This record gives sequence, structure tokens and C-alpha cells, in this order.
Amino acid sequence: MRFLRCLSLVLVCCVFLSRLNPSRAMRAAEAPVTWSGQIASIVYQNCATCHHPGGSGPFSLLTYRDAYRRGPQMVQATQSRYMPPWLPAQGYGDFSGARRLSDEQLRLIRNWVESGMPEGDVSRAPAPPHYDATWQLGKPDLILTIERPYTLAASGTDVFRNFVLPYPLALAHYIRAMEIRPSVPQVVHHANVLIDRTASFRHRHPGDWEDGVPGMELEVDAGNSFDPDSHFLFWKPDTPVLEEPEGMPWRLDVGNDLILNMHLKPSGKPETIGAQIGLYFTPEPASKHPMLLQLEDDRDLDIPAGERHFVVQDELKLPVDVDVFGIYPHAHYLGRELEGWAVLPNGQKQWLIRILNWDIDRQSVYRYRDPVFLPRGTVVHMHYVYDNSENNVHNPNTPPIRVRAGNRSVDEMAHLWIQVLPINVPKGGPDPRLLLEQAWMEHRVDRNRGDFISLYNLAAALAGLGRYTEATADYRKVLAAHPDDERALNSLGAALENAGDWQEAEEAFRRAIAAGRETCDAQFNLAGLKLKRSKFGEAEQQFRAMLRQCPEDAETDSGLGVALDGEGDSKSAEAEFQRALELDPGDFTALYHLGEMAIESGPPQRAIDLLEKATAQRPDDADSRERLALAFAESGRPGDALTQLGEAVQLKPGDANLHALLSQVLAGAGQLQRAIDEQNQALHLQPNDADGWNNLGVLEARAGKTAAARADFRHALQLAPDHVQARANLARLPPP
Ligand code: HEC
Repeated sequence: MRFLRCLSLVLVCCVFLSRLNPSRAMRAAEAPVTWSGQIASIVYQNCATCHHPGGSGPFSLLTYRDAYRRGPQMVQATQSRYMPPWLPAQGYGDFSGARRLSDEQLRLIRNWVESGMPEGDVSRAPAPPHYDATWQLGKPDLILTIERPYTLAASGTDVFRNFVLPYPLALAHYIRAMEIRPSVPQVVHHANVLIDRTASFRHRHPGDWEDGVPGMELEVDAGNSFDPDSHFLFWKPDTPVLEEPEGMPWRLDVGNDLILNMHLKPSGKPETIGAQIGLYFTPEPASKHPMLLQLEDDRDLDIPAGERHFVVQDELKLPVDVDVFGIYPHAHYLGRELEGWAVLPNGQKQWLIRILNWDIDRQSVYRYRDPVFLPRGTVVHMHYVYDNSENNVHNPNTPPIRVRAGNRSVDEMAHLWIQVLPINVPKGGPDPRLLLEQAWMEHRVDRNRGDFISLYNLAAALAGLGRYTEATADYRKVLAAHPDDERALNSLGAALENAGDWQEAEEAFRRAIAAGRETCDAQFNLAGLKLKRSKFGEAEQQFRAMLRQCPEDAETDSGLGVALDGEGDSKSAEAEFQRALELDPGDFTALYHLGEMAIESGPPQRAIDLLEKATAQRPDDADSRERLALAFAESGRPGDALTQLGEAVQLKPGDANLHALLSQVLAGAGQLQRAIDEQNQALHLQPNDADGWNNLGVLEARAGKTAAARADFRHALQLAPDHVQARANLARLPPP
């Protein structure tokens, strides 16, 4: 199954407000408010991040002289709460980094200006903050640079451009922080970073991705695993480094691309724009897996000219408990009131955000100071009001014209993104994000039967939840409308295969291959199906065809290796596995099978090296841990073997063989009682295993429990009267 993601990036254009001249009426000061005493620290804390040389504000406010020149303007801008820029209304969501002056601070600024802006005692003035052009968190662990700088014309409309930055490392990394550094920040209004897990965007633009591809909205193919967008990677010139909360780094895998979508504003002279992305690693993998959810109502956006109060809304019921970490409302110029709230199961209303005076140029991602808890059953609401009259100072059209949803900035949008972290998740249950995805996509399909991308994603979520029959039905609905959609055919095949319907699965893969231009996924799945059914010859043929027709891919070689191994040609198989590792040193299949071969033909250290790499790739794979345990046991490291087997048993508690193996290793390490316990576990799962009863008897005998041992051997003989060892063991016991 493939997950599709339609990511709409942020669109912005420029409307300049004409402001009235501030009133300069000055009254006599009541108290001596001075720059050095009170004002400098207010300005440094609330204004200087933007108002410093090279910052996003139009002038600096770092010195007394700077502030003196702007005094009356400062009063006007702060009294009206135009500055510092901050859209959310107070009391409707507690956001970190909220930029809001207190009434007291407003009064101090006004008093200072009205009393003639005295400087006060210079020696008491706080030191101005220091801004330099280096990385905010020190040197990043990895710096990505866009391939070719882009030349922005001196004038003209805003430019949206997507730059692809391939992740160049041969190992996956977790990212705890990211900083974006455009070479000319003054012309970059904002930027978004997307992770393209399958490099799909680059492959769709083979000729021009290095130059940056124009466009505001991109679709990326999320690939075969469910890996939903999880973090707001949003940047504006005045935002600090994006640091992720504890336990919530994001991941970059081998072969991923980052797509930097920049919104550029011509500055009056041509500018050559480069950009760097600095990434900071953490060795700690993510322990918490958030997800971005979107409420939207683009379809109902059709706003008549002159309409002053056009409402669009959406709502989504949450199937699991979540913590909300952040929120990102988005509309274009006609949006006026943007509201998001939740109605809890007990009927209580919980505000998430309220913006009464939307301004697209001030758009931002808002992060909560403390996550907002929403219990399962909560309904999240989006409620937006649009003003398409002349009263709306942001309206780009005079006179107003009818406006509908669309991608250009003169079109409209109605989106509310929230970042949620599922919590209170029952152990052993399905990935709660799949439940969120299912609820989200079901809702979208309910609203719009023609939304086949959502229907497709719904089917993929159901398949991910193991509900293959329902998934199959939904894929078939997609195919009824798009009979030749190779992705849907291929995913249908995968769902059918999982449901155990081999024939139909094969037919779906064949139809996908016949229908498509990009058929490598389906070819791979067909070959995999043949492998699983032990039709190694046919699998070999299929993989060989892929080697001729498809882009180089380690998995093709390792698949061919498995087929050859199955046909008994382990020499050629080994060569294919080696070739796979040359293409991708982290190819799990190759590491696993070479490791297995090394267990047989040694040396054990080689098996350990390979299998350790395999388990690092797939920590949740019990089989590779089992093999690694064998390799440890063979090289005389029972302690390490026990650790691996312990993990494997946790991953697959119902696997009798694992318990039996663990029992053997425990016995070898002298832990007799634990060995007996594990062997009992194994027999509990597999009561008719004569060998198992014999083994239990041996352990009991060693522990001096003769009677129990005798019963075990007899049990073995009942199950298999010809069991030679059980008979011999029984005979060897001292008489009762
Ligand atoms: C997040 C960045 C940011 C912060 C923080 C900020 N400003 Fe601004 N300021 C701007 C930008 C950008 C402009 C340019 C006009 C615009 O974008 O509206 C501006 C414009 C102004 C203007 C000119 C307004 C006009 O009438 O055109 C004044 C005065 C001003 N800022 C004062 C302040 C003061 C005082 C503070 C702190 C209390 C502050 N600003 C904080 C970004 C900021």
C-alpha cells in the first residue's frame, strides 16, 4: 500500500497597509519613565528579535537613538496591538513565545513618548541583545545546501519555489532541531520543509529539481509504510531554531529528500538566493509519535463578491486520547475570523485558537505552552469567517470578485492543521495514528464521495490495521472510478495477499503491471508473492526482469538472492546479497540472509556483525534477534544470547520455538529453574511436541526432580512411541 499526501503549502502575497500618522499630542509626564530605566528592556525582549540590523523588521530598535526616532510610531503601533505582531486573541489558547505586551508595558511606552523620550541614567541601561549570523545552536551535525542558487528578479509577483535537498548519509538519523538559513533572509517571507520519503518529487522532476521547481502545492508519495507527517517544519525569518519536544525527534532515512518550499518576495534588485538547512542529531530514537491532522473545507469555498460573512466549517471526532502540541490555521486574504475549538465528551468547550483579525502575512505555527489534552470522543471544530467586501483591507480585488478555493494566492483556502500525540494507548493495540488516519479519512470521504485520494488512504489505513477485507472493498471502490490506477491495483494486491487470497492477489499485481508505466512496485510484489509461495524459479525470473527494467534497488538484488538460495544456489545468492549491500549497506534482507549463512559457515563474529546490523535496521524483528542469539551462543557469549532471546520472546510471546530456544540457552548458562519455566511455556503453546517433553524431562532430571522427569519422558513416549532418546532417558533414571 502507498500513502498519498497532498500537502498544501502556505500561500502568501503582499498587501501593504496604509497607516495613519500617529497623533503627536503630548501630555506632561506623570512619572519619569526612561529608556535606560524601563523602555530598553521592554524593547529588547519584545521587539529586537525582528528590529535589529538584518532582522525581519524594517528598522532597528537596538539603541536609544533608534527608538527616539520611532517613538510616536511605536506608541501608535503598540496601542493598536499592531506590534509586536501576534494574531491569537488572548485567553483562547496558551501559546509559548506569545508576543503580547501587558497593559502596563503599553502604558510605559506611551508615557515615555509623551514625556519627551528621556534617556535616563545610561549606566543603568541593559546591554542590547547580540545577534550574529552563525548557527543558533552551534555547528550543526549535518548541513544541507541547495544545489544551485536561485536568481529572484528585482520586481514582479511573489515566487514560490521548491528546492530538493537529498539526505546524503548512509545511516538514518533522528533530528532534534533544525535551522534554515537562506543567504538573503530579507526576501524570504517564510519557508516550509517537507520530508519526501520516496524521493518522489525529485523523480518526477528529473531535469529541473536542482534548479528548484516552481509551485505552491506539492503531492508527495509517502511510500509503502504508514509514516504520516508529524512535525510542523515551518520557518519565518524571526523564528528561533525549531527544537522538538523531548522524545519527539523526527527521522531521516537513507534515500529521503527534504523539500524546501520558499516564499520569496522581490526586493527591488535582483537577488541570488541560496539556502542551507542545519540539522542537529540525537542518538535517542523517538519515543513519542505525533501526527498532523487537518480540518478543511475547501470544497464549500465559493464566496460571492461583496459577501461580508461567509462561513465555512469542518469537524473531526477523535477516536483516541491525544495531547495537542501545536496548531496552524491557514486562509488567504479574505479570511477574517479563524477559530478552532474542541467540544469534549462532557460537552465542555475548549478553545484551541481564536484569531479575530486574520492577516496572511502574519501567519504562523502556534505551539502550546503545555499540551492540550483532548479525550477520545472529543470533536474538534474549525469555524472560519471570510469577508469578501471592500471593508476587508486585505481584499486584493477592488471591486470584489467571486472567489473560490484554489492554489493561487488570489484563491482561498480553509485549513486548520493540528499536531497531536496519541496518549493512554493500550499496550499491544494497533498504532493509534492509524486509528486517527482512519477517522480522518472516513470523515473526508463522508463529506466528499469523489475524494478518491482520501478513500485510497482510508483503505491503506484499514490495511495497516489488519482489516484487509474492508481495505479490499475500498480499494475496489477506488478502482471502480479509476480502473487503471496502478497504485490502487498494487495495494489491492497487497491487501488480498495479506487476506490470504493468493490467486486474486496475483491477478491484481498482474493488472497493475499491465496498466502502469511505473510498474516496479507491482513487479516487486509479484516476485515477493512467488517467494512466499516458494515458487523460487518464477520469483527469480521476475526479479531478473526487474534488474533489466527498474531502477537499481538493493531490495531487488536481495530478493533475487532469496530466490536463488531457495533454488539451492547459495553461491549466486551470496553474490546477490553482497551486491544489495553495496547499493544499500542497511538492506535488511541481505544482512539477515548473509548473517544466517555465516552462522552455518562461520566465522561466528561475521554472523554477529551482520545480524547486529540487521537488528539495528529492524529492532522489532524477532527472527533476526533469534539468529543473532544463536550466533552469540555459538561464539561463547551466553549473556548476549540471553539478552537477544529475551527481546525476541517479548516481540513474539506466542512463539513456542523461541521459548524452547531460550530454555536451552538458559540451561547452558546454568539457570536451570528459569530454563524449566521457559520450556513449560513452550509446551503450553505447543503441547504435542514430543521433543519438547523430552527436553523438559532432561532439565527436570538435572534439577533432581526425578518424578517429574519420569512423567515428562512418559508423556513424550505417549506422543511418539518411537522416541529413542526419551526411552533411553527414561531408562537412565534411578528406579522409583
Ligand atoms: C516578529 C517580528 C516583529 C516584532 C517582534 C516586532 N516587529 Fe515591529 N515590525 C515588524 C515588521 C515585519 C514590520 C513591517 C511592517 C509590517 O510587517 O507590518 C514592523 C513595523 C513596525 C513599525 C512600523 C509600523 C508602521 O506603522 O508601519 C513599528 C513602529 C514597529 N514595528 C514597532 C515595533 C515595536 C515597538 C515592537 C515591540 C513592542 C515590534 N515592532 C515588534 C516586525 C516585528
